Amino acid sequence: MGSLSFGSSQSSIGLDIGTRYARAAQVKQTGSGPVVTGYGRVDVPLGAVADGEIVDAAAVASALKDLWRHSNVRGKDVSVGVSNQRVIVRLIDLPFMERGELQSAIQYQAQDYIPMAVEESILDFQIIGDYMTPSDEHMMEVLLVAAHREMIGNTVAAVEGAGLRLTSIDVSSFAIVRALMGDLPEVLPGAESEATAVIHVSSGLTNIAVVERGVPRFNRISSLAGSTFTQSVANVLNITFDEAEDLKVRIGLPDIDGTAADEFPGIEPDRVQLVHQSIEREASKFIAEVRRSLDYYLTQTSQVRSIRRILLTGSGSQLRNLASYLEKGLQAQQVTLGDPLARTQASSGALAAVEADRFGCVTAVGLALGGLQ
Ligand SMILES: Nc1ncnc2c1ncn2[C@@H]1O[C@H](COP(=O)(O)OP(=O)(O)OP(=O)(O)O)[C@@H](O)[C@H]1O
Ligand SMILES: [Mg+2]
Repeated sequence: MGSLSFGSSQSSIGLDIGTRYARAAQVKQTGSGPVVTGYGRVDVPLGAVADGEIVDAAAVASALKDLWRHSNVRGKDVSVGVSNQRVIVRLIDLPFMERGELQSAIQYQAQDYIPMAVEESILDFQIIGDYMTPSDEHMMEVLLVAAHREMIGNTVAAVEGAGLRLTSIDVSSFAIVRALMGDLPEVLPGAESEATAVIHVSSGLTNIAVVERGVPRFNRISSLAGSTFTQSVANVLNITFDEAEDLKVRIGLPDIDGTAADEFPGIEPDRVQLVHQSIEREASKFIAEVRRSLDYYLTQTSQVRSIRRILLTGSGSQLRNLASYLEKGLQAQQVTLGDPLARTQASSGALAAVEADRFGCVTAVGLALGGLQ
């Protein structure tokens, strides 16, 4: 009898198309939780994706074909993530109504909340909960997602051009939160006045989300990200982007307490200092940007008074000493690296590939997890 609940073949693929890389993760549901069984990453041609949007669908399609050829991801149905200025997420309060009624009402209500024409957008929503106001009005809280139709069209074209089928589109930051924190609201005693910020740094974009009791209640995208640090090094040393990338990864930020400046064999100390200074300058701007976002969130909410915990993730989060700079700059109690392998296992056939891209795989894994439900 027990065997009936084992070996479920339910499987799902998450596809994360970025500026530098496209990544696919395949996740299978097993008796002991979801397991990553396939994983791969390929380069995306320069310029094919910009500011989180696909500009050259044909070039992306051919990268995706490569990805399928060179990875152990098997299957054609994919959940794709989107993250750019033309995907809007808003938490809104409306008078309580039944789901069916909301479905049509949202078409009329949405325009008040989104800075794009509703006619040009695809809308989706999720009911978060309902409550009574002090004056006894029955209200509901709804998470509204609006995505620009044309932008989604390019995503569909790239995916179909690679011979794949797009089964769902998800907001990347929801996928990131899912991979790191799970889907179930974490109702912890005393947790009402605290929230977790999730900061995902990739090459062209940083995703900032605030999660309260399992619900992502705030979401913002910034263009200060990994490439910003690289470009500043390239500018200050007058070298190519690729050369700067290498120096950035090797040198990173100085130790925060200023002690024991690491030795970097083969790099002149003057050069190390210039790299440190240029990245430090950009890091201050980055931290100010994160602080502004979190402060804005705190002014919008009546319940949460502090953000104590910060999960830092994405490939760009590996910048040496970035976590301690954030901890100091935000006066947060705890900045932890958000590791998707903390919640989801990987099979022996996928483990090496996942581990090699441990912080970069978060979005793809979260998208795949979303497809399991
Ligand atoms: N060890 C490291 N130290 C510093 N930065 C790193 C390190 N490893 C990777 N990065 C940075 O992470 C960034 C790449 O992030 P990622 O792989 O998530 O990009 P992407 O998904 O293609 O981009 P996007 O999602 O923004 O379009 C690059 O800026 C790279 O320099
Ligand atoms: Mg990315």
